[in-house]
Amino acid sequence: GPGLRLYDPGFQNTAVAQSRITFIDGDAGILQYRGYDIEDLAEKSNFIEVSYLLIYGELPNKAQYSQFHHEIMHHTFVHLQLAELMKSFNYDAHPMGMFISGMSAMSTFHPEANPALVNNDMYVEDPRVRNKQIFRLLGKSPTLAAYAYRHRIGRPYNQPRNDLSYTANFLYMMDRLSEDEYEPHPVLVKALDILFILHADHELNCSTAAMRHIGSSHVDPYSAVAGASAALYGPLHGGANEAVLRMLEGIGSVANVIPFLEQVKNREKKLMGFGHRVYKNYDPRARIIRRVAYEVFEVCGREPLIEVAIALEKAALADDFFVQRKLYPNVDFYSGLIYKAMGFPTDFFPVLFAIPRVAGWLAHWKEACEDPKGKIWRPRQIYLGEGKRSYVPLDHRS
Ligand code: SDX
Repeated sequence: GPGLRLYDPGFQNTAVAQSRITFIDGDAGILQYRGYDIEDLAEKSNFIEVSYLLIYGELPNKAQYSQFHHEIMHHTFVHLQLAELMKSFNYDAHPMGMFISGMSAMSTFHPEANPALVNNDMYVEDPRVRNKQIFRLLGKSPTLAAYAYRHRIGRPYNQPRNDLSYTANFLYMMDRLSEDEYEPHPVLVKALDILFILHADHELNCSTAAMRHIGSSHVDPYSAVAGASAALYGPLHGGANEAVLRMLEGIGSVANVIPFLEQVKNREKKLMGFGHRVYKNYDPRARIIRRVAYEVFEVCGREPLIEVAIALEKAALADDFFVQRKLYPNVDFYSGLIYKAMGFPTDFFPVLFAIPRVAGWLAHWKEACEDPKGKIWRPRQIYLGEGKRSYVPLDHRS
């Protein structure tokens, strides 16, 4: 056949892009955004500043930060017709399905970002067009997510408040019960902002690879984000935080932890929130999230399932089956416990992953757009099917 091809299912050992955005050392459990340790950023930065860092490559100075923050907080409104569209879903529609649809629908409100409608060179070459979409997608993602939630609980939408910080505005849109009384709790705003920082990027994970793959056809970034969100929705990826909560609820108590792990070892169950394609060590994000969980419990009350999670982690890390396979808690193992304690419904957890990951998706999309040698992604395959054969008319087939 035509030359040997590298067969690498699931891209377990293939680099499909060169990037300067995020670095992971899976064996050492190191994660850096543009060279800054995730622990440093989680402690000292905020989500908007980290988004700027991921997308533009440097920590912003004061002028750059306030300009970026201003642009984003003045692109938080969703077109009324798009808001109406979100109302056409069943009240019990999964919010991630609504988010994906809303993102795709958003592309139809910004034709100037659609290369099929405008001169292709203008789209790929003009950073102003790209930056405008970046501000819109970062600004509108929390609004779209909040609308999906408000529709679910049968409450009116809350208009975005650009006098609040990015994350406080998101919590405001989710929960305000009456006119302007609601001020989100500062500890919860800080906790969620740290979670947003931790979820912002993770090099070529399944959804970011999808963003690059879809973006390589030069479709608009809204449609690409819809596709990336669809990849994130899967329980093996960003949907794992929802699956972990359901798993912990199924286990129910510490007494059931060992029997559950037996089921996992017999491959009857998966230990959701454990294992990772790259980390063969403790996910540094999980360590930070576990600390933040206790700060949230101080305000919202202790989530009893934390005991099951701690017992599960302890038992798994002492069990050869998991040690041999280098299975450790990943970012999804503890995050759902925080979201549950904060009062978010379980099926909203993947949406809480998607909101901050939009920053990482956009950073990679922009980097790919700026690559002068960028090509459409079109992998090859190993053909195992039939050789050439002739057509047999229907009345000659047995
Ligand atoms: C995220 O890629 C990213 O960076 C993702 C992410 C990001 O920030 O974007 O970090 C976010 O998606 C975290 C992962 C969330 N997913 C889950 O928690 C779901 C449970 N985890 C597994 O499905 C699995 O670990 C994956 C999907 C995360 C990784 O799968 P791989 O790399 O394809 O590994 P594998 O399935 O080949 O597993 C290797 C071995 C196998 O054992 P054998 O069959 O060869 O004996 O480990 C076993 C697996 O059976 N294994 C597990 C397991 N994960 C792997 N066994 C039980 N429970 C698990 N969770």
